Amino acid sequence: MIIDNKIRLREKRLDDALNDYTWKTDHELARLDAVPQLTMTFSQYLSNYASELRYSSSTRHPFAVEVLDGKHIGNCVYYGVDKTKGEAELGVMIGNRDYWDKGYGADAVTTLVSYIFGQTNLNRIYLKTLDWNIRAQKCFQKCGFIPYGHMVRDGFDFVLMEIHRKQWEEHKIKI
Ligand SMILES: CC(C)(COP(=O)(O)OP(=O)(O)OC[C@H]1O[C@@H](n2cnc3c(N)ncnc32)[C@H](O)[C@@H]1OP(=O)(O)O)[C@@H](O)C(=O)NCCC(=O)NCCS
Repeated sequence: MIIDNKIRLREKRLDDALNDYTWKTDHELARLDAVPQLTMTFSQYLSNYASELRYSSSTRHPFAVEVLDGKHIGNCVYYGVDKTKGEAELGVMIGNRDYWDKGYGADAVTTLVSYIFGQTNLNRIYLKTLDWNIRAQKCFQKCGFIPYGHMVRDGFDFVLMEIHRKQWEEHKIKI
């Protein structure tokens, strides 16, 4: 368990499944994340979910984001871990809209970045977000991520952002 001011990150559990299903079947959240909205039934989703929880991967590390009273408000993950290149991609989603624009996303990202640079030898964390998702870009900028390019995938325009270990050390001193 990893704790910051507003949130803590913990391992995913089976009782996260209903929130995760609700968020993955939400049209707006799917659009913000440039992914298809999930259409399977909850019972199908639950059976896949249970087997994914049992499977541990060395390249993908998901966490639940909880507020300090234990309410599950979203998820974050680092994945595509490449030990040779020393890098991984980061993803975050605050699914509960009551917690948008209040710093919870930035807290979750800061906590995860701090964990990655503190507990692994990775030197670079990168991410992509839709070019019109200003909230997400502002959130990542607050955490020290810097835009470094653009890409188009499946017809979506993404802004690419990154943070290197050295930049993180400097960012930590400022916050
Ligand atoms: C993207 C997300 C993780 C950000 O988390 P959050 O807790 O809402 O963001 P934060 O409060 O930490 O930061 C958002 C900042 O953007 C600002 N903002 C929001 N909408 C804005 C807009 N339209 N224009 C300018 N600034 C905006 C907020 O005021 C805040 O800045 P401030 O702290 O200086 O006031 C979260 O909103 C989320 O998961 N949204 C839904 C899914 C999504 O967008 N997924 C894509 C992730 S790549």
